[in-house]
Amino acid sequence: MGSLSNKQQSGFSASSTAEEVTEGIDGTGLTAIVTGASSGIGVETARVLALRGVHVVMAVRNTDAGANVKEVILKEIPNAKIDVREIDLSSFTSVRKFAADYRSSGLPLNILINNAGVGVTPFKLSQDSIELQFATNHLGHFLLTNLLLKTMKSTSRESNTEGRIVNVSSLSHQYGYHEGIRFDKLNDEPTYSRHSYAQSKLANILHANELTRRLMVLSFLRKKGAEVTANSLHPGTILTNLLRYDGFLKCILKVLSIFISKTVQQGAATTCFVALHPQLKGVGGEYFVDCNIAKPSSQAKDADLATRLWDFGLSLTNAK
Ligand SMILES: NC(=O)c1ccc[n+]([C@@H]2O[C@H](COP(=O)([O-])OP(=O)(O)OC[C@H]3O[C@@H](n4cnc5c(N)ncnc54)[C@H](OP(=O)(O)O)[C@@H]3O)[C@@H](O)[C@H]2O)c1
Repeated sequence: MGSLSNKQQSGFSASSTAEEVTEGIDGTGLTAIVTGASSGIGVETARVLALRGVHVVMAVRNTDAGANVKEVILKEIPNAKIDVREIDLSSFTSVRKFAADYRSSGLPLNILINNAGVGVTPFKLSQDSIELQFATNHLGHFLLTNLLLKTMKSTSRESNTEGRIVNVSSLSHQYGYHEGIRFDKLNDEPTYSRHSYAQSKLANILHANELTRRLMVLSFLRKKGAEVTANSLHPGTILTNLLRYDGFLKCILKVLSIFISKTVQQGAATTCFVALHPQLKGVGGEYFVDCNIAKPSSQAKDADLATRLWDFGLSLTNAK
């Protein structure tokens, strides 16, 4: 993480809050989905987008928790436009149902924030028999994005505004398996380790990069600017519920947090910046830290790995 006072090209730094980086931006008329908006960074992201006038669709698996968050936001911002909808990102059936309901609701979609995540879980398979973190953090979002991309493109054409996809990754994407993505050993319990979380976060970056490549080819063919951009980011280190499954890591983080932690308000800043800020018009395929473009690992920049992951995702989710 950069120094807290180190303002770089954007004019913002690690200490900037989500409110500060969106100051003066009018999001009225925009609609955003925020996954995992029932806890942590997702709550603050939803609140600040709503504060800027964005119609926020909270995509959560616990709708009671979602309804509580909505109530709290409405108390502060009575005219906020907020819906709560159910999604379990670890289940392809649930993701498909969410996307189908969303499409049939006729709502536009300008911003998709793929924020939900589980961290460092004990070995577990999803309903679709895929390692839980890869299923939730990457595949659920990969499928959701594919299923909603058409809606985002038509919203972009109709409203003449660029759509934005924001993948919330992590600095920990650097600390994964040496092969990056273990295509052949995804569900291998004997060799399963904490690196699986990092693997899923590496997949978030590769996903945004490959999607950008594909969107750029399309916009080149249409001889027009980007209709939709995709970027990824590290939010910083924030004490949230993320490490609820790993007491040991949680303890370490608690100690480290005295020196390196951000508040949730700072932790949602990069997401809100990438989702809303006019500075980023047309910017895609970048990785952000502290509201500035940063360098991810060499694996995260590996275009062949990104393409292979895309094809792998298509085959596992049976998406087109
Ligand atoms: N906190 C950090 O230091 C840190 C650092 C780097 C990256 N990140 C990333 O930031 C994102 C947000 O994490 P956070 O720190 O805010 O953690 P958090 O407080 O645990 O929030 C995670 C959110 O994801 C939701 N979620 C988990 N599994 C889901 C599923 N199967 N379907 C739908 N929603 C699901 C959770 O819902 P429930 O409450 O119902 O479980 C919760 O709303 C994650 O992608 C994480 O990897 C966080």
